[in-house]
Amino acid sequence: MMDSAVVDRELLSLIRGDMVACGTHREVYKFLPDTSLVIKIEREGYKFDNVTEWEIWSELCKTPYSAWLASCQTISPNGVVLIQERTSPVPEAMLPKMIPSIFRDTKEENWGLVIRNGKKLFVCHDYAHSRLLNVPKKVRLVPAKWHDPSYKGWTK
Ligand SMILES: Nc1ncnc2c1ncn2[C@@H]1O[C@H](COP(=O)(O)OP(=O)(O)O)[C@@H](O)[C@H]1O
Ligand SMILES: [Mg+2]
Repeated sequence: MMDSAVVDRELLSLIRGDMVACGTHREVYKFLPDTSLVIKIEREGYKFDNVTEWEIWSELCKTPYSAWLASCQTISPNGVVLIQERTSPVPEAMLPKMIPSIFRDTKEENWGLVIRNGKKLFVCHDYAHSRLLNVPKKVRLVPAKWHDPSYKGWTK
């Protein structure tokens, strides 16, 4: 039988494509079997952003908030690997003036565009730090701060 580390490496090479980007805690790669998805890999322990994102998506996927979130497809048993809907960069002119109140880490790089059912949607792909508790039933929009020079990308 072939060494299992070799098999794991070979399997990975069939699944993990080029790196899309690297955030503070996660590396993001193309998912070769389906390029409409990405692989998000936690770089260090104790952050659990993949797990939190998965939980948030599971909680909100059947609510109107789903139109603002990159969907999560599956997660590995320990949360190190998350498969998520792939977004494309948002042209400056398409940044919306208002976004839902539940988001906290609202830097421009945490957002992207997806096409769902033929409709272009502006979605957040880094929502591990949004407010999941007591989410208002109806989506409440607040002004986005893309061009506010005093905003450091974090809403209390
Ligand atoms: N679903 C996605 N589709 C396309 N690019 C993504 C997606 N998720 C993240 N990225 C890219 O990877 C970067 C890091 O991912 P992010 O989720 O923000 O990780 P971190 O928690 O480390 O900030 C993002 O800024 C973005 O450029
Ligand atoms: Mg990020």
